[in-house]
Amino acid sequence: MGQGPILYSAIGHVENPFRDIAAPEEIRAEESRVVLDPALTDGLEGLEPGQRIMVIFHFDRSHGYELRQHPRGDRTQPRRGVFALRSPRRPNPIGVTVVDLVAIEGNVLRVRGLDALDGTPVLDIKPA
Ligand SMILES: C[S@@+](CC[C@H](N)C(=O)[O-])C[C@H]1O[C@@H](n2cnc3c(N)ncnc32)[C@H](O)[C@@H]1O
Repeated sequence: MGQGPILYSAIGHVENPFRDIAAPEEIRAEESRVVLDPALTDGLEGLEPGQRIMVIFHFDRSHGYELRQHPRGDRTQPRRGVFALRSPRRPNPIGVTVVDLVAIEGNVLRVRGLDALDGTPVLDIKPA
């Protein structure tokens, strides 16, 4: 491949009650907090509660990948290519979820619909 490693720093992290792997629906049903580095708070200007935003994050507890995987690990389902799946086990372990922005409290975004675990490093936030 053409390029060497690409280095990013987290802009914040996720807080919710889910420390261990859980079903996406279960995590999405709870409100999560996206705690931004306080030095980046001005970057939230223009975001409004009620809008949809994309949270881009690093699957920090995912190890390795296969190019063809059973969807959600369900062996009764035929394998599919990793790029046709939302699996956390992928060559670059990056997650993207569109969430509802419930409230902005200083450097903290309260969101609904996020399926990232507690402590997950956040890489970026954008309007959906
Ligand atoms: C199927 S992925 C989908 C994530 C995102 N919506 C996407 O499409 O990229 C969601 C699952 O990833 C797992 N997960 C969430 N945060 C993780 C993390 N930090 N490290 C490893 N696995 C994680 C959880 O089990 C969660 O149910």
